[in-house]
Amino acid sequence: MQSESPLDTLISAADRALRAVFAPARASRPMPEPKPVPAPPEAQATPTQSTAPPSLSEAEKRDSAALMRVNHAGEIAAQALYHGQALVARSATTRALLLKAAHEETDHLAWCETRLKELDSRPSLLNPLWYAGSFAIGAAAALLGDRMSLGFVVETERQVEGHLDEHLARLPQDDTRSRAILQTMRTDEIAHGVSAKAAGGAELPSPVRFLMRNTARLMTSTAYWI
Ligand SMILES: [Fe+2]
Ligand SMILES: [Fe+2]
Repeated sequence: MQSESPLDTLISAADRALRAVFAPARASRPMPEPKPVPAPPEAQATPTQSTAPPSLSEAEKRDSAALMRVNHAGEIAAQALYHGQALVARSATTRALLLKAAHEETDHLAWCETRLKELDSRPSLLNPLWYAGSFAIGAAAALLGDRMSLGFVVETERQVEGHLDEHLARLPQDDTRSRAILQTMRTDEIAHGVSAKAAGGAELPSPVRFLMRNTARLMTSTAYWI
């Protein structure tokens, strides 16, 4: 098999970046649906199940949209981290693992995008900036070697899991559609962390973990508004 020239590599990286930031994401799995709510006891005589999601007030929609905008920005950043790491990865196996994970994350991007539309809102205007910054961070992490790079995935997913838990608690009670998306994302992120660890991910030094947490905080607090 012929290996890619540096120019091919650069063109592929630019293509991935433009698709992630500007093209509508296409999911390969259907959007997660909320579980049907059991009928209340008084309606047990005719056991029907309500499947229609409860409607949200304007304030609740705004609240949910702000949280889903943060999650969408987080998924843009996840794409960029993986792409940056893949560009610099030393082994073809690690590169393939990273690009496969990025591809799986496209579902998350697409679901958040769809939910934002349903909530009459939009993604973060700063997405190109989140992509560029995260790409650089991913590439820098990968310069430290494949084991550190995989360790970076483990730590990122650990932090994303904590962040999703926080959002699941903050979502308006009746926003069952957003909740179903975040719950499926949470399950997927845990699996990504487990496979990166199994592939040899090293434990990161605590100053790096601290830096990662604070960078993520800056992004999530800004994307909530912009
Ligand atoms: Fe994700
Ligand atoms: Fe993930």
